[in-house]
Amino acid sequence: MAERTRQDWEPTKAFGTSAVEFAVGTWRLSIGRVPRHGADLIQVYDSSSSHWQRLQTLTGYTKAYPELFRKLKADGWLSHLGIDSLVLDCGTGTGVMIRPLLSQLSLSPKVHAIDLSTGMLSAAKSELEKGGVDVRLQVADARELPFADGSFGMVMSAHMLEHLPEPGEGLREIARVLRPQGLLLIVTTRHGAPDALLRLVYRYHTLKPDWLKGRLRELGFGRVTNYPLGERPRLARWLSSAYVATLDGPSNNLAVELGKGQINPE
Ligand SMILES: C[S@@+](CC[C@H](N)C(=O)[O-])C[C@H]1O[C@@H](n2cnc3c(N)ncnc32)[C@H](O)[C@@H]1O
Repeated sequence: MAERTRQDWEPTKAFGTSAVEFAVGTWRLSIGRVPRHGADLIQVYDSSSSHWQRLQTLTGYTKAYPELFRKLKADGWLSHLGIDSLVLDCGTGTGVMIRPLLSQLSLSPKVHAIDLSTGMLSAAKSELEKGGVDVRLQVADARELPFADGSFGMVMSAHMLEHLPEPGEGLREIARVLRPQGLLLIVTTRHGAPDALLRLVYRYHTLKPDWLKGRLRELGFGRVTNYPLGERPRLARWLSSAYVATLDGPSNNLAVELGKGQINPE
């Protein structure tokens, strides 16, 4: 069984862990599950990989992502991608965001996608091959990305930070591999009744929007813009929210951290 740390048991101000929370008189009752880590996490995604893409279709993500990328293009965000830009999808799952992104670009950037689960990566391989898309898929941990500083013109990540014991570590790695003016797209799960069942099964914690925006500002990102997921009222739109920003340059904090090669405690 995965080792449980004290932190696993304690909801923090920044993250929502409980699946159900209610008040009875002066009591607040909260029921949640300990987050999954390590082999336990990989195993659950390996075994979800055969039906993950179907789940994406049923919940409306396969329609919501094309709408999101159309909107991002219309709002000028995708023009941050240069002719030689590389794109990284971090915690790609079945790679559900990759085709909708590429279909909005006149350039064909090289795409790298990483995930901890080999099951998810082989499902991504067959999905992307069906669509004739060439992506470099790699097993890697988002907390220790195997890429040099400033490698990518765009990094996107959907529903992955929720699994990290310290989501700030993942954000710091993403900022490290983005080049200045690079584009960031984060899709996170919205904390609320619609995702309560998913939280019980997949055992993640949700990120609070203010925490996410604050961390991004500290890491040197400019204005963080929040987009709903898709235009129509589908489950995906209730379940998730998108955040877009560009890396304007390292803030003093990040410069200090990168300079020392250290990670600050949260
Ligand atoms: C909820 S799924 C999301 C998949 C895909 N991005 C999507 O939205 O359909 C979370 C994915 O993140 C991966 N993941 C979790 N922790 C990770 C880590 N530390 N490094 C890389 N991938 C991770 C899981 O294996 C899983 O494929």
